[in-house]
Amino acid sequence: MATAGPTKRQTTREARSDFEQLAAAKAALLADHTPIAEDSSTCFGPYDKSTDTIGSIARQSQPYHVQQVFYTLTLMLRPARILDLGTAVGMSSAYLAAAQACAGVDGTVTTLDASPVRLKIAQRLHASVGLENVRYASGMAEQDLQRELALNDRFDMAVVDAAHGRKGFLTIYEYLIEAANPGALIIFVPDARHTGEIAKAWDKIKADERSGCATQLGDLKLVYCYDAFGRT
Ligand SMILES: C[S@@+](CC[C@H](N)C(=O)[O-])C[C@H]1O[C@@H](n2cnc3c(N)ncnc32)[C@H](O)[C@@H]1O
Repeated sequence: MATAGPTKRQTTREARSDFEQLAAAKAALLADHTPIAEDSSTCFGPYDKSTDTIGSIARQSQPYHVQQVFYTLTLMLRPARILDLGTAVGMSSAYLAAAQACAGVDGTVTTLDASPVRLKIAQRLHASVGLENVRYASGMAEQDLQRELALNDRFDMAVVDAAHGRKGFLTIYEYLIEAANPGALIIFVPDARHTGEIAKAWDKIKADERSGCATQLGDLKLVYCYDAFGRT
């Protein structure tokens, strides 16, 4: 984790203006009825439908209060390397990257999605709000996350809002717990369609000694890897 940062006053001012700017950006995306099929230069992912519009995909992003929790935890923990699994139009990665910049942390947010067309929309969003600390990875989390983790340093925070079913949940947990820095935080974002299915998987994670401390914050499932492997 990084250390020095801006003053409290600067941080408060910037955080408030980030919230306003990102809320306005989301409102604009929600109102954008451009069909994604208009972009013939970029491939669709397995979750894209030919009838999707930018606005319909923006509706999949988490509500403001959840994004603000991501932002606040990033300000508090000051993670240098952040993973965001499930990009959609790039809202969660925008909150994470803006908080990292607000905290004065010299780091990156890597956002992964199975849909190249969604990554392109996210890239445009991030450029429009002046975020330069986001990296993009295209692929299925269950198959491509391991490659991504092998190529990069251990991570300090991960937001998992993809592969919500039981199998994906446990597979991704295994990949992440092995690549977490001591003190890393993993946040699983639930999908109501899979609640019953992942209850047992969550019990398994809570019982896993590598997970350190696993608890819930509202619907979010948090795994704090305080010192997963006795590394210092
Ligand atoms: C709920 S949306 C993410 C919303 C985003 N976190 C936000 O709040 O702005 C889920 C995204 O994950 C992607 N996705 C779902 N399952 C995936 C998987 N197994 N691998 C990669 N991407 C996946 C979908 O394409 C979709 O864009």
